[in-house]
Amino acid sequence: MPLTLKALHPLFVAEATGVDLRQPLPHGMADDIHRAMDTYAVLVFPGQALDDDQQMDFGRALGTLEPTRGVVDAHRHRLKHQEMNDISNLDTDGTLLAADDRRRMFNLGNRLWHSDSSFKATPALYSMLHARVIPPEGGETEFADMRAAWDALPERTKAKVKDLTTWHSLIYSRAQLGFDAYTEEEKRAFAPVPQRLVRRHPGSGRVSIYLSSHIGRVEGMPVPEGMALIRDLIEHATQRDFVYSHRWKQHDLVMWDNRCTLHRARPFEDATYPRDMRRVTLQDVAPTLEQAAA
Ligand code: OGA
Ligand code: MN
Repeated sequence: MPLTLKALHPLFVAEATGVDLRQPLPHGMADDIHRAMDTYAVLVFPGQALDDDQQMDFGRALGTLEPTRGVVDAHRHRLKHQEMNDISNLDTDGTLLAADDRRRMFNLGNRLWHSDSSFKATPALYSMLHARVIPPEGGETEFADMRAAWDALPERTKAKVKDLTTWHSLIYSRAQLGFDAYTEEEKRAFAPVPQRLVRRHPGSGRVSIYLSSHIGRVEGMPVPEGMALIRDLIEHATQRDFVYSHRWKQHDLVMWDNRCTLHRARPFEDATYPRDMRRVTLQDVAPTLEQAAA
């Protein structure tokens, strides 16, 4: 069966059917998926009842897995695979995390618009998030199109921002919510890294602005001036016309390109209902400063 794509939004995002992600991909399918990602940036694969091994294998079929997870208490890991991100409100024994658990508070950072692993020297390429258990209401994930956001910027703003470098850290995004409880080891692991703010997306040739709530400083600007600029840019990039909101069904796998989209989690009754989502993440080829500028 060929990969079949159906647009879910006027600018980006498609539903992808005609492939069983539990099986090894048929010849040519990985290329078809990469091409679809270059066009749509977000793909929704409905009805994929994957287990952890199958989700990992699907990731490996498309690229190189990220070797580490950017989390606090990394040693308290619920899942079989160290590389798999646990995007849930569950403790290692499967019970709901307590309201004041620092992992819960740290994870609330996902409610801010971000690009995965922009706080790593070589950031993420694709993320593949799979819904195992979803709450009855809420818990949507929203996506914003950063290529459309770039296209819609006034020329004057494009000229002003096109060569800027930004500094990213998990500490910066969490500080926006007032979270600062790190061990010395975590502080070292989360030291800021530089990223290019504007770059050309290789697979589509389109220019994209690379934003994230992990940004805490713009190179060469006083911090408040740089952060006021970043706030304006994120506000621009996340206006409703550029946003797709995904309402999850169990066994959806949603894959997004972190180079040209932002995303954020929406709230749900997390003291009452479990939400068990698992993420496999691919690494980009190099730090953004080593990649082509716009
Ligand atoms: C992620 C993420 C949002 C959500 O998995 O990287 O930010 O809705 N998830 O869980
Ligand atoms: Mn994320």
